[in-house]
Amino acid sequence: MVQISIQEEFAGTMLDLKAFIGVFNKHADIFSPYKGYLLKHWSQLYKRQFKDRGMLKGKKREEIFKRWLALFFEGLRMKDLTSHYKDMVEFGRELTDMGISLEELILSLHFFEEVSMPLLMKHYPDKDKLAKMLFALDMLFHNELACLSMAYFYRYRSEIARLEKMKEDLTHMIVHDLKSPVNVISVAIDILLGGIGQTGQVNDSEYLKLIASASKNMRQMLNNLLDIHKMEKGEFVLDKSYGDINEVTQDVIESIRPKLDDKKIKVLFRKEEIAPFFFDKGVIKRVIDNLLDNAIKFSSSGSSVIISSKAKDGKVFLSVKNRGPVIKKEYREKIFEKFGQARLASKGKKYGTGLGLAFCKMAVDASGGEIKVLSGKTGTTFVFSLPA
Ligand SMILES: Nc1ncnc2c1ncn2[C@@H]1O[C@H](COP(=O)(O)OP(=O)(O)OP(=O)(O)O)[C@@H](O)[C@H]1O
Ligand SMILES: [Mg+2]
Repeated sequence: MVQISIQEEFAGTMLDLKAFIGVFNKHADIFSPYKGYLLKHWSQLYKRQFKDRGMLKGKKREEIFKRWLALFFEGLRMKDLTSHYKDMVEFGRELTDMGISLEELILSLHFFEEVSMPLLMKHYPDKDKLAKMLFALDMLFHNELACLSMAYFYRYRSEIARLEKMKEDLTHMIVHDLKSPVNVISVAIDILLGGIGQTGQVNDSEYLKLIASASKNMRQMLNNLLDIHKMEKGEFVLDKSYGDINEVTQDVIESIRPKLDDKKIKVLFRKEEIAPFFFDKGVIKRVIDNLLDNAIKFSSSGSSVIISSKAKDGKVFLSVKNRGPVIKKEYREKIFEKFGQARLASKGKKYGTGLGLAFCKMAVDASGGEIKVLSGKTGTTFVFSLPA
């Protein structure tokens, strides 16, 4: 739909230009002798403006400027600019696909105004001819802005395609992640029911434990997903009351005990005396739960997880440290974003949905605190602060 309306608008601009095509043809020769000069100055201007920030470097830059210039001269010679603009648009699309910024494209379009026109004004003898050319050029620039909007459109089109794909991947991921605990629950219940059918009583606590843990995983994932959604919409409300952070942490440790025992992981809780302060106990409980869940997931069996709490300068700090894989520097921010980051950070291996830390960050931020990760040779530590 969008594509059609943009193309129609584009065709309209083409028609407006017809009257000026004659002017272009007549004055095409004005620019030709300055081709080398334009190329050189274009390049210098570009360098000055973008230094190393730009995507266009060395040979690639030269090649692209040459193509811009060739397209420009070609445009001056052509009777019908329609195909020329198609080429320009296609070229603009190529550039945006290459990741070249719109800023850079605009700069290249305005180059003629900034560099070449003052040059021509100084050296070209027939000022009258030049004035007409300037007017015609102005029209061309206007239309090139239409090309730019096309470039914009192409960029947005690829952005929309990327988001669509993300949405699809996401749905697939969520369904997949929910499927395994549901399967575990359903199989375990069938086995238990079979047993009850024969003996008339529930007598296998292992299956009940499986059901409990799978339901908890599922609940945690759904809660994270729903709360992140609420926070993004600004509908998440904290329910603060005075509480003891050490007590809350101890509760989480107890609730996660079966997982700890399963992996034979010890938790060392090094707590400082901390006066009760105002925070949302339920939300912070879930933050600690997510951090501890990760620490267990990424620890090797038989190792220890250290939780520490302390108060300093009007803030309370809680850290969760485990021995395990290092999180590379380049992923230390990404892991706090929603989805996908987990796969990146662990080189193709997928350990979960990637919602836990996104929830933690949003919840801690909303509480007026901060969350950080430190990861080195001895393991990974997540630490968050809250105003006390
Ligand atoms: N303690 C840790 N040690 C090493 N890597 C970690 C640790 N905690 C988190 N990560 C990395 O950060 C990623 C994101 O963590 P997050 O808790 O957001 O998602 P997840 O655990 O993969 O899935 P979910 O929490 O939704 O079940 C993890 O997949 C992992 O790559
Ligand atoms: Mg997690």
